[in-house]
Amino acid sequence: MTQDELKQAVAQAAVDYIAPHLERSSIVGVGTGSTANFFIDCLAKYRNDFDGAVASSEATADRLKQHGIPVYDLNAVDGIEFYVDGADETNEHLELIKGGGGALTREKIVAAVAKTFICIADESKKVGILGEFPLPVEVIPMARSHVGREIVKLGGDPVYRDGFVTDNGNIIIDIHNMDISRPLVVEEKLNNIVGVVTNGLFARRAADLLLLGTSNGVQSIP
Ligand code: A5P
Repeated sequence: MTQDELKQAVAQAAVDYIAPHLERSSIVGVGTGSTANFFIDCLAKYRNDFDGAVASSEATADRLKQHGIPVYDLNAVDGIEFYVDGADETNEHLELIKGGGGALTREKIVAAVAKTFICIADESKKVGILGEFPLPVEVIPMARSHVGREIVKLGGDPVYRDGFVTDNGNIIIDIHNMDISRPLVVEEKLNNIVGVVTNGLFARRAADLLLLGTSNGVQSIP
């Protein structure tokens, strides 16, 4: 199977998982990226079975609206039952690296609010130890050099994502060669650097369920 076919399979599996729980008042949290896009396209078939969605990026909001799915501001909804999103890497504990597309801060906010966070990914995303994929950090622009120096002190190699501006008007620093054998510790240390808005480690709020697309079918973990 191609990578796109695996993404399509996990997107459909996520819709199959949440569909029986959808009510006319339900709000679905929707992530960002190519796998999340497949999910949006599958979810559209059920658009009359739930109220609407909260989007983790402007791109996702646009795609949801194109399908006729109402998009709500997070502050306007009472709660979110499910948040469905892709990942750049996942380990066996469902701790993730996210933010390859730069949407990490809104993704983290929606994941924090949702009762259940379902990660959908193809098998290339499953790793033993997180960190081969550069870890994105969203930074207030004036703090770029300061945050870079602090990242070096933590043992990482900071690379400014030149020309990229987040939906929140900030910049991204991608951290290469970082030891992330203890994701919770690294997540907290990075969050403590002044000028950091968020980092792309989802360890404190890991996924609750991973739907992993493999050539032998979709695995449900745990
Ligand atoms: C977006 O900022 C990311 O967190 C995505 O969820 C992640 O990059 C996965 O994207 P793909 O599904 O395109 O691999």
